[in-house]
Amino acid sequence: MKGLILALVIPLSLGAQTPTLAPVDAPSRVVVPPNGEPGSAIVISGTVYDASGSPLRGASVYVYQTDARGYYDPANPRASDTPRLKGYMRTDTQGRYEFQTIRPGSYPGTRNPGHIHYHVLAPGHRERVFEIVFEGDTLIPPQWREQAKAEDSGVAIVTLSGGGSAGPLRGVQNVRLQRQP
Ligand SMILES: [Fe+2]
Repeated sequence: MKGLILALVIPLSLGAQTPTLAPVDAPSRVVVPPNGEPGSAIVISGTVYDASGSPLRGASVYVYQTDARGYYDPANPRASDTPRLKGYMRTDTQGRYEFQTIRPGSYPGTRNPGHIHYHVLAPGHRERVFEIVFEGDTLIPPQWREQAKAEDSGVAIVTLSGGGSAGPLRGVQNVRLQRQP
């Protein structure tokens, strides 16, 4: 009986979490925030590759982040499993994705660097879950810089460039997926 109750309760609580897999018909380019969202506009793009370096078409890319103040949701600032700002993409025929968003803030009252979370998955491959932070952010701890040197690290440092009359600042984050063992 206890097992039955657990079986009923667990799916309900998991159901509240925002899915981390993009619908199969998701576009390869999205705009994450609603019109008028406060913050500095940025564009992040990249290619998803397989272990041998071939682009992966139709890979799922889910990104989510805080707003410019560091809140995942105004009503629940730390609710990272139900974020307000999120985007679902599927890579195009050349493995590419792109999203436009605003630069996320640091969690209020912390020294955590502003960051964007990624979940990337393709059939037959292991999911990669990591976050990007932005070069020049003085809140990036030295240990994160060390970690970021490994390709399969949980953190990557993205350099933003351009901006001004050239449009929003842009950064590139490529992702390599390993085959499912
Ligand atoms: Fe976060």
